[in-house]
Amino acid sequence: MPIHDALVKRAAEALDACGATAAYGTDWTSRTPIDGAALVSGAGVGRDAVEEAVRAAHVAFLAWRTVPAPARGALVKRLGQLVESHKSALADLITLEVGKIRSEALGEVQEMIDVCDLAVGLSRQLEGRTMPSERPGHRLMETWHPAGVVAVISAFNFPAAVWAWNTTIALVCGDSVVWKPSELTPLTSLACSELMETAILEVGAPRDLHRLVLTDRESASVLLDDRRVAVVSATGSERMGAEIAPRIAARFGRAILELGGNNAAIVAPSADLDLAVRGIVFAAAGTAGQRCTSMRRVIVHRSKVDAVVGRLASSFQGLRVGDPFSPDTLVGPLINESAFDRMQDSLTRASALGGKLVTGGSRVDVAGAESFYVRPALVTMPRQADIVREETFAPLLYILAYDDLEEAIAIQNDVPQGLSSSIFTLDQREAEMFMSAAGSDCGIVNVNIGTSGAEIGGAFGGEKSSGGGRESGSDSWRGYMRRATNTINYSSALPLAQGVTFG
Ligand code: UN1
Repeated sequence: MPIHDALVKRAAEALDACGATAAYGTDWTSRTPIDGAALVSGAGVGRDAVEEAVRAAHVAFLAWRTVPAPARGALVKRLGQLVESHKSALADLITLEVGKIRSEALGEVQEMIDVCDLAVGLSRQLEGRTMPSERPGHRLMETWHPAGVVAVISAFNFPAAVWAWNTTIALVCGDSVVWKPSELTPLTSLACSELMETAILEVGAPRDLHRLVLTDRESASVLLDDRRVAVVSATGSERMGAEIAPRIAARFGRAILELGGNNAAIVAPSADLDLAVRGIVFAAAGTAGQRCTSMRRVIVHRSKVDAVVGRLASSFQGLRVGDPFSPDTLVGPLINESAFDRMQDSLTRASALGGKLVTGGSRVDVAGAESFYVRPALVTMPRQADIVREETFAPLLYILAYDDLEEAIAIQNDVPQGLSSSIFTLDQREAEMFMSAAGSDCGIVNVNIGTSGAEIGGAFGGEKSSGGGRESGSDSWRGYMRRATNTINYSSALPLAQGVTFG
């Protein structure tokens, strides 16, 4: 385990490599979950500064919206190059602040580069449709226009990639961005913001197109209420979503919500168990179970329960828990003590409801009392009790049994959340059924892979209490623009629609 001074030095070097500095202050402290100690403290901003950021970003938007979209793409292209050349430093900051293992931190930065590529391509493809008009000499079509200021509210667990999903697409769509990152990851956001600022200066885009606000929840609420903020794209808990959605709706603002998940895999009798176990272990224990796409439940055909539980237990026991910078480690720390406490609470509640702990759940002393490392836990449940319907943001996997596929799908869907899901089967009928209208009700429905690790090319997001938003690929860009329907009369008559005559 590195001594703390080495972690502080690494943080300072990574920040410096990205050209960023933390303004001196005591408003926030970045702590590393690696040993729980402080890395850097800095100055934050209050409500007035958030208001000023919205005002400035709105002025920048008014100029940016008329810049041709392919020229806007040039800004994101430069950002992508800068992210690529600072990949290692950004990954360091992610590992330091989130505790993600190095490979996953590099993967997160790669996800940023990928979405920059996608957004640059999109900058030449923000296309509208033309529909046949019912009237002679008329054309009916739609055009897409920039929406305004986009507020990006991001969570600790993907402190860079989720910002990039939203920001790159918003920028090519002609919007400006005000970013409120998680209070747990100020350094990563300072570094990303600095690279963004460099790209803005280099291509000569309006300076205030992107504003970072290191602030608290109360001051950030300006972003929910200000009418110039056309879109609020927020990632966080279901509780946060329930709080902010009505507030944004009250002023008819648009919300893109990416909230919790309670993601399950169904393991059918025909499943390739080697593949299934590998997929499940990565999805459940990877990122220490702290992805919104992390797997929380495995619904196994009764004939396979013993085999699946046995293999998962031995895989879980073999996972190396420890320093996320060490190449042998697969499971880093939990973000903080409350994450650990919530996991312990869930384990207690599950056992009171008949759950049996097969393995894991105990704390591992890697770096002292202020850090929270835990062995991934596997719990068999007699049925889907209430605790299983809640998302516990930790490596805790429940096993449930089923007898027929319809029942398995019903169990899979019988939770408030609807983010990600998967089935392991070699039976095409089962796979198709799972993906059909009567199948999984989630936004992400996979076959023979786990629930996490989506590529940026698809639309990302989920249904029900997962929030309904879509980000990153496919046509998610439409969420960052406003649509105009145009009817053009190129005849010299004035026929009315629906055959109406008037005078
Ligand atoms: C999140 O956990 O908020 O699909 C995002 C995945 C990643 C993104 C996760 N590409 O697991």
